[in-house]
Amino acid sequence: MAVREILIIGDPILTRRSEPVDAVTEDIVRLARDMVETVHAAPGIGLAAPQVGLNKRVIVVDLSVGEDPDALHVLINPEIVAKEGEAICEEGCLSVPDIKEKVARPYRVVVRGLDLEGQAVEIEGEDLLARAFCHEIDHLDGILFVEKLSALKRTLIKKKFKKSAAAAKSP
Ligand code: NI
Repeated sequence: MAVREILIIGDPILTRRSEPVDAVTEDIVRLARDMVETVHAAPGIGLAAPQVGLNKRVIVVDLSVGEDPDALHVLINPEIVAKEGEAICEEGCLSVPDIKEKVARPYRVVVRGLDLEGQAVEIEGEDLLARAFCHEIDHLDGILFVEKLSALKRTLIKKKFKKSAAAAKSP
């Protein structure tokens, strides 16, 4: 397993729609395991494959950040099949470091996908878990949480990261 580099807002891979996974191959299992290691190392509570440079529909969510094996959800081709209610809460993203903003999400969701054995799974999540699933599945559709903010906030955040990317490139 390996910790992979997390892409930052401004990278075109983050705004592309990811491809469904046809078969849970060794490569996909390796990717998922690396994503688990990467999100724990960050540390964070969720990660989507495009954030490590692959436009494949794979997500990892672990509200316990590695403390509780039962809290780890690795899902391939995840889909929200039911949602209910609404909650507004501060949200962040490993690809948008140091930014936290209030975002409205469903309070409860039911997510379907495949596990690493290729078996169909269905998970019900409330509150922060529902939020994490929605956030990570958005990543697979090329949507960062900043797209949910006001145009002004979004513009300011994008500008900030454009500047820091330019600063990183200059000698
Ligand atoms: Ni994110």
